[in-house]
Amino acid sequence: MNRFFIIPKKTAVLLSLATLGVISLTSCATTQPPSAEVKSSSSPAQQASTTESPTLKNLQTAYNGESNAHVMYLAFAKKADEEGYKDAANLFQAAARAEEIHRDNHAKVIREMGATPQNKLTTPEVKSTSENLETAIKGESYERDTMYPDFIKQAEAEGNKDAVQTLSYAQEAEAQHAQLYAQAKNNLDSWRKGTQSFYVCTASGETWTNQSDTAKCPASNSSKQFEKVN
Ligand SMILES: [Fe+2]
Ligand SMILES: [Fe+2]
Repeated sequence: MNRFFIIPKKTAVLLSLATLGVISLTSCATTQPPSAEVKSSSSPAQQASTTESPTLKNLQTAYNGESNAHVMYLAFAKKADEEGYKDAANLFQAAARAEEIHRDNHAKVIREMGATPQNKLTTPEVKSTSENLETAIKGESYERDTMYPDFIKQAEAEGNKDAVQTLSYAQEAEAQHAQLYAQAKNNLDSWRKGTQSFYVCTASGETWTNQSDTAKCPASNSSKQFEKVN
């Protein structure tokens, strides 16, 4: 008795194509890394939790953004000072401090979630102060209107209260920054005197021009409730 099956020609061709299909799908799957993965030197357990929690990935994105915004605004402050726009320089300094507060707030929540904050600092492109203000307005508007609202919605869906808080603090401050930068951009010549002070809340990074507004500053563990920049 013949122990081998005889496979009709047509079926053999189909089987071969199916096998090739499996091979090619497998090879695609192995060459494309998962999009949710955050490049890091963290442990496999931390990487697993990153892929499980979109909010952790969002916090890493926000942490990276705030880290770079801090560096960029310091460079813009130096340029504004060189060009004689002393008040604009103060505004950039105040916003840089606010972004630093956001960066550290986000880092705290990332650590609470068992991961390590990851950022990649890039050298900012410094142009004229007017152009730098335009860049700053675009960045702040995107964070205020798109990035933080989306991240907050996701954190709420995950029931992560600490993430909701740090992301909401940042969104509030970015709205103020966008407004202040627009004021400077629209009337730049009046931002030369260096007489304008800014008040940065150490808990939320919110940024005001009147000291009386610091009463709105949420309670913090810092010895100073707000910092004055002028
Ligand atoms: Fe920020
Ligand atoms: Fe900002």
